[in-house]
Amino acid sequence: MNTELLFTSSSSVETELLAVFAADTASGKDAKPEIRLLTGDVAISAAAQSVLAGGEFRAEANETLLLHAPAGLKAKRLLLVGLGKVAKLSPQEARKGAGTAVRFVKPRGIRELAIAAPESDKLPSQWTLRALTEGITLADVDTDTYRSDRKDRGVQTVKVIAPEGFDRAASESGFSEGLILGGAQNFTRSLVNEPGNRLTPTILGRRAAAMCGEQGLKCEVYSTEKLIELKMGAFQAVAQGSDEPPALIVMTWEPAGGAAKDGPVLGLVGKGITFDTGGISIKPADSMEKMKYDMAGAAAMIGAMQAIAQLRPAVKVIGVVCSAENMPSGKAYKPGDVEIAMSGKSIEVINTDAEGRMVLADGLAYAKQLGATHLIDAATLTGACVVALGMINAGVFSNDDATYEKFAEGLKVSGERFWRLPVEDEYRELIRSQIADIKNTGGRWGGAITAAMFLKEFAEDTPWIHLDIAGVAWQDEAKPWLASGPTGIAVRSIVEWVRQYSH
Ligand code: BES
Ligand code: MN
Ligand code: ZN
Repeated sequence: MNTELLFTSSSSVETELLAVFAADTASGKDAKPEIRLLTGDVAISAAAQSVLAGGEFRAEANETLLLHAPAGLKAKRLLLVGLGKVAKLSPQEARKGAGTAVRFVKPRGIRELAIAAPESDKLPSQWTLRALTEGITLADVDTDTYRSDRKDRGVQTVKVIAPEGFDRAASESGFSEGLILGGAQNFTRSLVNEPGNRLTPTILGRRAAAMCGEQGLKCEVYSTEKLIELKMGAFQAVAQGSDEPPALIVMTWEPAGGAAKDGPVLGLVGKGITFDTGGISIKPADSMEKMKYDMAGAAAMIGAMQAIAQLRPAVKVIGVVCSAENMPSGKAYKPGDVEIAMSGKSIEVINTDAEGRMVLADGLAYAKQLGATHLIDAATLTGACVVALGMINAGVFSNDDATYEKFAEGLKVSGERFWRLPVEDEYRELIRSQIADIKNTGGRWGGAITAAMFLKEFAEDTPWIHLDIAGVAWQDEAKPWLASGPTGIAVRSIVEWVRQYSH
């Protein structure tokens, strides 16, 4: 897809379809909608006037209305896209709205469109342009990769129009950042979409290495021998049940001129279980196929590293991915086994299906050994987190308020939804083991928290953030702005967190 930024008036743009945003200015829940087109272009207002007067379009979020041959415009079609109540307007609505416009044209075989950037004092140029290009990029992707009758309905050209009043430099920088972030998030989605037989740990390692080669990042991919050498007993225990060898992927971003001495080093650690059967504590067959997405945390880190290479923050970043297949076999680890993690802590295995925290325990320890001063991990870690927060918010946990605040700051830009859950000492008791330092499950209650408590033991005193993305990394139903399947959650927020440390 080719995306262009034009500084001109929307009514003068020749295009197959011009998308223009609209919002409802009426206050009060049951008030009759009062629609405002978010454009100062009077020719567009004139073209839309009679249909708006008719009342059939309410400007609800992602509602669309198509007009053919609009009078006074160079466009062949005019698409109105609702952004909801004007009082709630933010760049997040613009991101979805732009995606809705792109996914409106795709099944209709329209290959080119123009989108008028919405004008409102609530929508600063930079964040609006960035949100628009993110939304456009994300919306172009479909996930039916292996269908033989797959139609190539990708959009070829999108012109984004910044009208008078938009700051040129801010618009340009937002525009290009959005393309970088959207592209990285799509890369993550493409990895998560792959089935387990086509994306083994070894193949994930190759994909990461290829990306790093293209972006000029340093990348090392190790396997069993290195796990043994590093005494990664927890990661190795999970990997040993499969015929597929594990992959330990290390990607490094060094800022130009080297990182500041004594400056922060950020460690990004991802859970990369390419398929989670549960192991000996095997999962029920129902929906087990979905467990190909159990590497979404790893994919988020690989995508984040791609964006980081392009955005070039002035901070060193190390991405560590722990990838394995969780399988039952004669060699698999078993409930009751005791494993010694890289940090030296002993772990009693209660349930082999709690494998994510096992691989991350060693990933966190290794990131620290490589010099990380601040840690962030992402994982499809617990069903309990889905029970707690549903499929709207992902869980975020942290042992350090200042570090968490930097993450929360980034959420304002990324627009992603995370909800903080506690990691307080009283929960530690639930993962106390009779035989070892710690056990790998904490019983029925507070499962997302006890999983986080387990990870906290391996982050130790290092400021650390844990993202449990089990509920939001995959969406079963398509949205008007995004295909069903992998969402690419967390890429944008992780990148914004990293940028908080760039100076
Ligand atoms: N990959 C799963 C988490 C998961 C479960 C994501 C269901 C989405 C839906 C993880 O490895 C897992 O199996 N966790 C167990 C932990 C339990 C055994 C303590 C879970 O959540 O049931
Ligand atoms: Mn599991
Ligand atoms: Zn898992």
